[in-house]
Parts: sequence; C-alpha cells; structure tokens
Amino acid sequence: MSEKPWTPDSWKGRIALQQPTYADPAELERCLERLARLPPLVTSWEIETLKSQLAAAARGESFLLQGGDCAESFENCTSHAITNKLKILLQMSLVLVHSGRRRVIRVGRFAGQYAKPRSSDTEIRDGVTLPSYRGDLVNSLEFDAEGREPDPYRLLQGYKRAALTLNFIRGLIDGGFADLHHPEYWDLDFVQHSPRARDYQRIVESIGESLRFMETLVGVNVGEMDRVDFYASHEGLHLSYEQAQTRQVPRRVGWYNLSTHLPWIGLRTAAPDGAHVEFFRGVRNPIGLKVGASTRLEDVDRLLDLLHPDDEPGRLTLIHRFGADKIQQGLGPLVRRVRESGKTVLWCCDPMHGNTRSTASGLKTRRFDDILRELELAFEIHAAEGSLLGGVHFELTGEDVTECVGGARGLDEVDLHRAYRSQVDPRLNYEQALEMALLVGERIAAQAAPVGDAARLAGTAGRRRQPRGVA
Ligand code: PEP
Ligand code: CO
Repeated sequence: MSEKPWTPDSWKGRIALQQPTYADPAELERCLERLARLPPLVTSWEIETLKSQLAAAARGESFLLQGGDCAESFENCTSHAITNKLKILLQMSLVLVHSGRRRVIRVGRFAGQYAKPRSSDTEIRDGVTLPSYRGDLVNSLEFDAEGREPDPYRLLQGYKRAALTLNFIRGLIDGGFADLHHPEYWDLDFVQHSPRARDYQRIVESIGESLRFMETLVGVNVGEMDRVDFYASHEGLHLSYEQAQTRQVPRRVGWYNLSTHLPWIGLRTAAPDGAHVEFFRGVRNPIGLKVGASTRLEDVDRLLDLLHPDDEPGRLTLIHRFGADKIQQGLGPLVRRVRESGKTVLWCCDPMHGNTRSTASGLKTRRFDDILRELELAFEIHAAEGSLLGGVHFELTGEDVTECVGGARGLDEVDLHRAYRSQVDPRLNYEQALEMALLVGERIAAQAAPVGDAARLAGTAGRRRQPRGVA
C-alpha cells in the first residue's frame, strides 16, 4: 500500500480512527484554509536540531525527558500553569543531568496537546447520549449537546493557544528564566514542604559549585556556552489539523509538520495501514510511536519500513507503555524484533499509560510504585538485551494536584478527591515528579557508559565519569 506516492492528504485514502465528525464540512474547510495560511508554530531548523539531539540520545550520549499534561486545556493556557510546567521540567532535568551524567533533551507535552483519543465515540450519563469529549481542539468537556458538538473554530483557537504558549516559553528562556545560575527561579511555592526537597537542594548546591569552579577555571560564563532548550510535542491525532500546518520550506527537501517539533502516533492509531501512519511517514520531523502489549510483532516490521525506511538518525522514537505487569513479557521480544531489522531507534519508556486503574469510587488513578516498577524493569530489560533506554515520558504537572497515589508523602485514595483536576489521565504532581526524577537519575547512572565513550574504550569503564556539562 505504501507504494503509492505520499502527499499531504494521501491519508484520506485510509481509515482514519479517532476523527471527529463535523456537522458542516464547508465550515471545517474554511477553518482549515485559514489555519494553512497562518505562520508556522515551529521552524524546520529547530526540528532538525531536535532530530540530531534525539540521534545522540539513541547512541546513549544524552537522555530524553518528555513530559506534561495528558491533555492541555484552553482554560489552563495561563502564565501560572505554563511557568509551573517549565519549572518542574527544569528541576527534573537538572536532577537527571546531575545524577544520570548525561545531557538532557527537554520535550514538553505542551503547546498543542489538545486532542485526545477516546475508547468510545459517545458518552452516556443518566440516559442521555452525547459525543465523547475529544479534547479542547474538538469540543468541550461540558456535558451538554452544544458543548459536545465538534466545533471547527476550535482548531484555530488551539493553534492560537499553542502559539501563545510557545511565545511565552521562548520569552522566558531567552530572558534567562532557565539560567543555571538561578535555579531558585524554578522553585515552586510548595518546594520546601516536599520530603525530597533536601535531596534536590543538595543537587542545586553542588551544580552551583561546579559552575563557579568551571567559570573560574575557564573564564567563560557557562550560561552563555550552554543554553537550555525546550521542544514541544503532542499526539498527532487530528489529521486535518496536522495537515494544515504541514509545509515545504525553502532550501529543504520534503514536508515538515510545523505545528510541533516532535509529533507522536498514539497506540490506538498506530495500525500500519491506517491514516495516521500514512500521514506521518511523509513528514521530515522526528516522530514518536507508542507501542505496547497490543502491538503485534509482525506489525513492527511494517511500521519500521513505513516510518523509518532510511534508518535516519533521530527519526524514530519508540515509546513503550506496557504496564508494570506486562513489560517483562512484552519488551524483550520487541527489542529483539527491532534489532533484527538492523535499524536504530531511540527507546523511551512511558510508565504511565499501562498503569491506569480505577478506584472504588470510579476515579482514574496510577500508583507511584507501579510507575517506578515499570521504569526499573525497562532499564533492566534493555540492559539484559544489550539495548539502551534513552528516554522517559511522563504525564505530570507543576501543580499540587492529587491524582496519582503513593510517593514520599504517601498519598492514598482518600486524598485523591482533595485536588483531582485532570480532565483525562491522572498526572504525577510536582513532588511525585521530582521524586521520580531522583530515582530515574540513579538508574541512568547505573546504565552502561555510552557506546564510543572514551573511558570505556580505554578500559576504564566503571570509574566515575565527569558530567558532560550541565544542560
Ligand atoms: C497519551 O499519551 O495520552 C495516550 C493516549 O497514550 P497511548 O496512545 O499510549 O494510550
Ligand atoms: Co494520557
């Protein structure tokens, strides 16, 4: 099937799951035409830079930290929510750099994470059936007929909020918010209450000392040498929206999806013959592909052929999400199957989506211990297979919510009602996320030194290596 040439709309000849049905197709077309005329949200330069960084992560030279909300909401496009998300991602990355001793690539699930796959097209409440909520890009969470009607103008609203979010993030970063000399800028109000706050403070102090030492020694300001970057990602679900921002750019070959740096294909839309794989095989961005217990090994060969035909470094990140109980059975065969293809991918573990459960009162939650166990098993299995876990993917927030149970403060199910705010999946709160980073950092450090590492080739592996820079 892939023999037919790719075009930005060739996906329309395939089965496109999880797409809303709009009452007025002409109105949808008008919105898409406007979207196609508006300037891009990201540039091909940034996309290519990220691709080369992901290639380095696949070689074990750096580590991908991807995180953010399950679903962003239009209402939460606020200064407070955006800065808090940056703060927690910066803090986590600082911890990972320090203990993992690798550069960290920061990719937010933000500036466009507005469309959600749902298990059912409709939702029934008290005998009333309405379309399911598909994310703010499509309709409203409000359970009434008007709110749930897919509205194409939301595509333009989503684009605008993504632009506002990116603009603010770029402004903060350029203005010095991420300056390593001032990690206090990233402190969240409740930092001092965290049981792990002291561990984090120790890391901050130690980095501060190293920075001052380096700057005295070399005579350069480290902040100027090594700027902290952020990249954006979202699930590439709403194909008309993605297509409207997919363009050719001067002096480059091929088509770029300029709505985000790193789009990923969700597990439910990853069929090799489906519309999503058809669309994303044709864009030049690095892409993610979710894989899990339902992924068939024979489909993996086909997906690699379609999405990663040239084995281009950094092109494909496989984000595995098995669940703590299934990873042992599923990951080894998957890693071997990919190895047999001879192609290199970046392996990233999403320990969230295979570990969702419902409480007795019907709230969706995840246990901190399940999340950690899946991560630990992921590190172990990759090591046993001679492969490398090069990234982690979390649903998290910089807010003080109570959605996942467990962690140092021992949140339990009765606490969940206190501040449960997710519209979709439960997220790690600030403390849980930081604690997770502290634990993951230790695991990265324990991983074999990257292939090609000078110390290893010289037979000195096992000696503690110097940090490769702090960002
Ligand atoms: C998600 O990342 O929010 C999601 C829906 O994940 P998955 O495709 O892995 O189920
Ligand atoms: Co989710």
